[in-house]
Amino acid sequence: MPKVLAQGKTIECVSQANLRKILLDNGVDLYNGGSQVINCRGLGSCGTCAVKVEGEVSVANWRDQTRRSLPPHSPTTDLRLACQTQVLGDVKVTKFDGFWGQGSQLVWTPEG
Ligand code: FES
Repeated sequence: MPKVLAQGKTIECVSQANLRKILLDNGVDLYNGGSQVINCRGLGSCGTCAVKVEGEVSVANWRDQTRRSLPPHSPTTDLRLACQTQVLGDVKVTKFDGFWGQGSQLVWTPEG
C-alpha cells in the first residue's frame, strides 16, 4: 500500500486515494489559517489545498493546472492541488505559508 508522509505522520492508503481526503481524515493541517473554513471542499476551484508533493501521483488534471495558473499561484511553481491528486505510490508532502499555500516559508514538512 502507498504511504503518505505529511506533518510527521505516516499514512497508509489504497492506490488512487484522494490526497486531500487522506490528509484531512488523518488530522493533517492541509489548510492555512482562514482557508480551513473558506475553501471549496475539494472542487478544485479555490486553490487553498496547494501542497508540494514528491513521489508517485496522478498527472495534474485540467482543474489543477488551471487554478494553479491563476494568481496568487504561479504555473511555474511545483505545487499540486491535493484535492485533484490521486496517490499512486509513496509520497512526501510539504505545506508552505500563505492563505493559498503559495508562500515560500515552510509551514510543515513530511517529517513534522
Ligand atoms: S480544496 Fe479548493 S482547490 Fe482544493
